[in-house]
Amino acid sequence: MKILLLGSGGREHALAWKIAQSEKVDQLYIAPGNAGTAGAGQNVPLKADDFDGIRQFVLEHCVDMVVVGPEDPLVKGVYDYFKNDSLLKDIPVIGPSRQGAVLEGSKDFAKGFMRRHGIPTAAYRTFTGETLEEGLKFLETLKAPYVLKADGLCAGKGVLILPTLEEARKELKEMLGGMFGTASSSVVIEEFLSGIECSVFVLTDGRHYKILPEAKDYKRIGEHDTGLNTGGMGSVSPVPFATPEWMKKVEDRIIRPTVEGLAEEGIDYKGFIFFGLINVDGDPMVIEYNVRMGDPETESVMLRIKSDLVDLLEGVAQGDLDQRTLEIDDRSAVCVMLVSGGYPEAYEKGFPITGIDKVTDSIVFHAGTALKDGQIVTNGGRVIAVSSYGKDKEEALRQSFSQAQKIQFEKKYFRSDIGQDL
Ligand code: AMP
Ligand code: GLY
Repeated sequence: MKILLLGSGGREHALAWKIAQSEKVDQLYIAPGNAGTAGAGQNVPLKADDFDGIRQFVLEHCVDMVVVGPEDPLVKGVYDYFKNDSLLKDIPVIGPSRQGAVLEGSKDFAKGFMRRHGIPTAAYRTFTGETLEEGLKFLETLKAPYVLKADGLCAGKGVLILPTLEEARKELKEMLGGMFGTASSSVVIEEFLSGIECSVFVLTDGRHYKILPEAKDYKRIGEHDTGLNTGGMGSVSPVPFATPEWMKKVEDRIIRPTVEGLAEEGIDYKGFIFFGLINVDGDPMVIEYNVRMGDPETESVMLRIKSDLVDLLEGVAQGDLDQRTLEIDDRSAVCVMLVSGGYPEAYEKGFPITGIDKVTDSIVFHAGTALKDGQIVTNGGRVIAVSSYGKDKEEALRQSFSQAQKIQFEKKYFRSDIGQDL
């Protein structure tokens, strides 16, 4: 079969790597991809949200399945675009409908959904410009720190955690005043939860689901979780506190009610669900939903899936996911992200990257790279993920760190404390 994968980051390179291993796949296209995905398939110069361009490509090249990496095309309705087109409607899109993508696209919708289905999450209320005064009063009923979330998508920047009531009041006014444009015209204020986070992923065909390996990601730029938030500096799978007992709570209290809740509400959802969880005194609670795989979690999770991912994706498309097998590798897998100096603030692009060919026994996933005159160069803040297996996370991390030294580009930086908190 012929598969078109949408996206261009490290997550998409890891998905491409896994999809390309399937015997079922004759041709993999990635739109737009990056310098790394070009080694797993054929890059196509189309943006992931250029639906008309994608339509033409899919029809011309007889693509059999579309796999969506990032949330943006999902929130914009790529699934519905296919369903409503007489020539595309039978080509499966792996990802939720636009309505399903609202689980990620609107924090207020996600919180309401969890409330309707009794899924454990922080207590909350949502406010708009008109109810600002009530919002300010509501803040007074909470304890510090204060959690403010822009309702809409803000490229990972829409959550503010503020240590004092004074700052929370000021930021609430600014958010509702247009700090993130229309994305913050509604703001969710919620109770602060204290615990360690864990990302849990499932694939669902809308009725059945398979639980993929869980992972922990490292969001802050500085060692020991200090400094600004980034798109993710590394990941580790499995997560030690995600024991079978804990995962049973996750399945019973969160995963099953979510999949059943989507079906009950008539929401078409055939794709990945990412549960951003926090472990509060042994009980899992939902911090957020995403409607895609995590980045950089995918760069370790894909290593641990032994089964043919494409067979599972076919199960999603055909609604018989329960008939497919998911075998998981017992080994640990980790990823260490090499980033551009200055990231997540201003950084330069276009530095030549050398030494990738010297890497042994690790898998190099490109996150932000491009080919320029035959040379691989940096093309983003997060540049390369070095992923490795090990009998435990320590061994896998030693391997990734040793290989990370071999890859060179100007102002390279990575966190050397990934996994240490677990
Ligand atoms: P989100 O974009 O919803 O994932 O939030 C970004 C980050 O803010 C999360 O990964 C958490 O670290 C933190 N966060 C969000 N909500 C809460 C909460 N209710 N309590 C504590 N931390 C939170
Ligand atoms: N690693 C978190 C995310 O992909 O949103």
